[in-house]
Amino acid sequence: MTTMFRYALPVEQTGWQVGTEMQASFAWEYEDGRAKLLNLYDTAKQHQWDAATRIDWSLDLDPANPMRMDDRGLAIVETPLWAKLGAEDRARVRSHVQAHTLSQFLHGEQGALLVASRLVQCAPQMDAKFYAATQTMDEARHVEAYSRLLHEKFDVVYPITPGLRSLLGQILADSRWDFCYLGMQVLIEGLALAAFQRYRDSAQNPLVQQVNAYVMQDEARHVAFGRIALRDLYPQLTDLERAEREDFVIDACRAMRDRFDQREVWDNLGFGDALADTAVGSETMKAFRRRLFSRIVPVVRDIGLWSPKVQQAFIDMQAIEYADIDVDTMLAADQRVAEEFDAQRHVAEAIAAAPAPAQ
Ligand SMILES: [Fe+2]
Ligand SMILES: [Fe+2]
Repeated sequence: MTTMFRYALPVEQTGWQVGTEMQASFAWEYEDGRAKLLNLYDTAKQHQWDAATRIDWSLDLDPANPMRMDDRGLAIVETPLWAKLGAEDRARVRSHVQAHTLSQFLHGEQGALLVASRLVQCAPQMDAKFYAATQTMDEARHVEAYSRLLHEKFDVVYPITPGLRSLLGQILADSRWDFCYLGMQVLIEGLALAAFQRYRDSAQNPLVQQVNAYVMQDEARHVAFGRIALRDLYPQLTDLERAEREDFVIDACRAMRDRFDQREVWDNLGFGDALADTAVGSETMKAFRRRLFSRIVPVVRDIGLWSPKVQQAFIDMQAIEYADIDVDTMLAADQRVAEEFDAQRHVAEAIAAAPAPAQ
């Protein structure tokens, strides 16, 4: 069934266009690449993978709890409404909440695909264009993987949330090339990494674990790309220019925190007004919203957008503790976890292929 017939809520039939005044720039220096970026480009070339074969799509999801997530992660689990729901309704809630999350992953990946291809055009240096070209392919693969997971294993798809749409629109419409990096590589991909990690590490379904682990392996490189590009640039900006970037970070983080409430699901399931405030205010949601910044805060510090104003904003969001995380160690761990999934798969295949012992 086409995606258009699966949307749980109305969606524009003709898509969404974002106007832009972004300039495409040619670079005539072909030889003078930065070693770190060229190394990252080489790694990206060597780690291209095929979503059709690396992931075991024969694995099934449980209709009562597709990803096999702990119910304590549901925003409504502490409410009287949840206590009253029967098994069928609870299964419906789990399925819709998970489909809503996956839908945002899918739409966000499409946004990343558009931004990565834009970076090919607008990055001023050839090494960055090379890297962005590999990222563009990565993002197409991520769209493919999440789309297949959603279409083959779930019944419904949700439209893009207003919060994600607004942030993507801002990034795509801005004419300053570094806003592509800052908005996508640091903010949206940082947010995505924290969300993917939750499913990679907490979902008990192996298909869901695989998809998120392999996507994270690529995303870790994308964040590294943004760090390298912006760490070079931001010290050269004027105080005023840097303050503009810092305000963008603060506003975007506040908006992401406030709009991460899955309100569309509660409205669609008919729980609406009675539940929306509870879900926003539950301890589960507060803890999850704080964790969303675990991948963003250390990178923002690392690229030099670390004025007292930015630090105060993260203190207010109760996310300042993440500033001391070692980004390189965390990104290396993402790489290692994906390789461990490969190793498990190879062992399982070798066992399956071994001849049966003689009777
Ligand atoms: Fe991606
Ligand atoms: Fe990415």
